[in-house]
Amino acid sequence: MSAQNYISRMTAPQITARKNGEPIVCLTAYDAPTAAIMDEHCDLILVGDSVGMVVHGLPTTVGVTLDMMIMHGQAVMRGAQKALVVVDLPFGAYEDSPETAFRSASRVMMETGCQAVKIESGSYAAETISYLVERGIPVMSHVGLRPQSMNVLGGFRARGRSQAVAEQIVENAIAADKAGSFAVVVEGVSEELADKVTKAVSVPTIGIGASANCDGQILVTPDMLGLFDRVPKFVKKYADLKGDMSRAAAQYAQEVKSRSFPSENNMYRFKK
Ligand code: KIV
Repeated sequence: MSAQNYISRMTAPQITARKNGEPIVCLTAYDAPTAAIMDEHCDLILVGDSVGMVVHGLPTTVGVTLDMMIMHGQAVMRGAQKALVVVDLPFGAYEDSPETAFRSASRVMMETGCQAVKIESGSYAAETISYLVERGIPVMSHVGLRPQSMNVLGGFRARGRSQAVAEQIVENAIAADKAGSFAVVVEGVSEELADKVTKAVSVPTIGIGASANCDGQILVTPDMLGLFDRVPKFVKKYADLKGDMSRAAAQYAQEVKSRSFPSENNMYRFKK
């Protein structure tokens, strides 16, 4: 990574400056070629711990390790040239103390070259966020539905149905903002609650299943590309990658069996 390359990327303060401005476009990526494609269109690319579910076939994000995040972060940094690249800190890598979080986050930053980390931010998180930011690590927070807590929550259902939980979510977002987060992801909440959170914080909110009232939007890229039959209600499928891949594999299988592939165009013939 050259200095020029680094300087040309979107920065965390530039994302923060987009509060109430042009909507911030974000997607996830986990590999270099996808990152290169998404980079053309995105302000921010998240190497989400959703990688565990959509790439590694895990049932939840709880089994994702720091080493997995670093490997995928390195790949994304090779593909993306201009977007801000944020890498998720996985379950177990930051919750117990600010020092643990710093060790994990500094490893991620040093070994991937990414520019920021994201943490799922419960009420315990403010101290950790300010500890990281003071030591040079931009932090994006994540409130509302926090997938790493799905074993406590009992599933991936939208959050904030009761007044108490809705208030807690707003409080978590305000605490994350005051602690120095440069943006806050808001996942799986009603339009009304997304609106409340967005108005309550000074930094941009990035919504996922949180209505158009947020300052930006993010989706899990394989979901929006149509790689899976079942996706959450808030996902819009912008492509039919599963259908395209299946049709391509079926045609390939048929051509291999009929010996029509490889054809003249796909063979080496050396002149004698
Ligand atoms: O892991 C992830 O992809 C995320 C997004 C859902 C925001 O955290």
